[in-house]
Amino acid sequence: MSVEESLYRALSAYSESDFYPCHMPGHKRSPLSGGMAHYYKIDITEIQGFDNLHQAEGILLEAQRRANRLYGADETFFLVNGSTCGVLAAVMTAAGPGDEILIARNCHKSVYHAAILQGLRVRYYQPEMIREYDICGGVCPEEIGRLLDQFPECKAVVVTSPTYEGIISDVEGIAAEAHQRGKILIVDEAHGAHLGICSAGTEDGMGVASKRGAVSQGADLVIHSLHKTLPSMTQTALLHVNGGRVDRAKLRKYLSMFQSSSPSYVLMASMDSCIRFLEDHGREWFASMRRHYEIFCKKMENLQQIRIGKMTELSENYALKDWDIGKIVISVKGTNMMGKELSDILRENYHLELEMAAETYVLAIMTLMDEEKGWQRLADALIEIDGRIEKKQTQSAIKNAVFCKAKQTMAEAFHSPWEEVFLKDASSRISADFITPYPPGIPFVAPGEQIKEEALRRIEEYRETGLFVQGVSPEGRIRVVVEIP
Ligand SMILES: Cc1ncc(COP(=O)(O)O)c(C=O)c1O
Repeated sequence: MSVEESLYRALSAYSESDFYPCHMPGHKRSPLSGGMAHYYKIDITEIQGFDNLHQAEGILLEAQRRANRLYGADETFFLVNGSTCGVLAAVMTAAGPGDEILIARNCHKSVYHAAILQGLRVRYYQPEMIREYDICGGVCPEEIGRLLDQFPECKAVVVTSPTYEGIISDVEGIAAEAHQRGKILIVDEAHGAHLGICSAGTEDGMGVASKRGAVSQGADLVIHSLHKTLPSMTQTALLHVNGGRVDRAKLRKYLSMFQSSSPSYVLMASMDSCIRFLEDHGREWFASMRRHYEIFCKKMENLQQIRIGKMTELSENYALKDWDIGKIVISVKGTNMMGKELSDILRENYHLELEMAAETYVLAIMTLMDEEKGWQRLADALIEIDGRIEKKQTQSAIKNAVFCKAKQTMAEAFHSPWEEVFLKDASSRISADFITPYPPGIPFVAPGEQIKEEALRRIEEYRETGLFVQGVSPEGRIRVVVEIP
């Protein structure tokens, strides 16, 4: 088999051959094996000619190199366990057992899980809240520099850019601050696999829709979920490495621990086909996405109550470098409608299912695969709903972030004996678990932190508005470390 052949095509050709599968998977590629039978045809294991993800030398190495060329990193790895396994491997490579790291507090839970697994001591950067939309702002490079001077033992910095809501930070500036001090920068760009795709030798080959990504801005390790913003199957992701700061042998070891020993060829073929699609059609599809976005924004200009998140609407900079056009924050802040209500109306009356609902906004994820009719339906629905919303008479108070101080490392608290107590009895206790409003999945309280009264009040408020808080049982109990008298 030629390594130039697309993985999907090679698998399809193989499925048409008379080779009989005396090997896993159990469906045996049989067309009689149910509704997914079409995919079973190309779902194989590491048979002759199809390489091995854990030591790629043939068709999988070539597919990863193709992805690598598109993004312009030094090395790129396919991930079949989502960005989650890339984040785990990246953080644990950059910081060894008991080391200290600096992370933005709004990092995904996989960063926290890596800290538990590696017994890390964690220092936080707390992004400022964007008052206009009740979402986290960007990461300020100078503040990262200041924190690294204050905590010089930190081995690495981890930031999320873009955030779930599309906030893009100045990665180049953050990389400069980290590298000046000899630290590794990990950028969780899970939501930004569409950013900075290189093509035809130009840095921003995909045109204006595809701004520069973290790979070309100096980050040492970058994680991309292909499945979040690009046409690729769920669980598909990439890990990119740049430069000489990262121990690549160690990274490979961690990847082979966190990746399945039976990586799915269906998922890998989907990644390969996504990369090829971007190479061939990315430029025109991104350009048309930008056009749809601009038409959508124009229509939204006449709304009276609903506001669409845009940089030009902000009263301050909030450390934003940019705002991703694929993340449409639809704000009902200051009106008589809650985010959950808006999302229910969009679902029930307009059959539009949104990505998530928070207290004062809902989030739509739009990608290059959304056609005009999708944008149009969203715009029409919002215009109609806007006419039914009124301004709230009294403005709600601004909610600043609540800090709970760590009294133990996350790993110590995680491994300690724990008991369940009601939220009302939990003040000043040490949390044994994460307490995380979901979405967006950013922990309010992490294991080892002493729970403040104010944090408990905020958790209750979340629950009262009908939003789901992970780590709190339906009766309102949480896990705390048992106190030893
Ligand atoms: C910022 C961020 N990083 C990492 C992840 C994990 O990605 P995956 O679901 O691909 O494992 C998520 C998932 O929502 C995320 O939002």
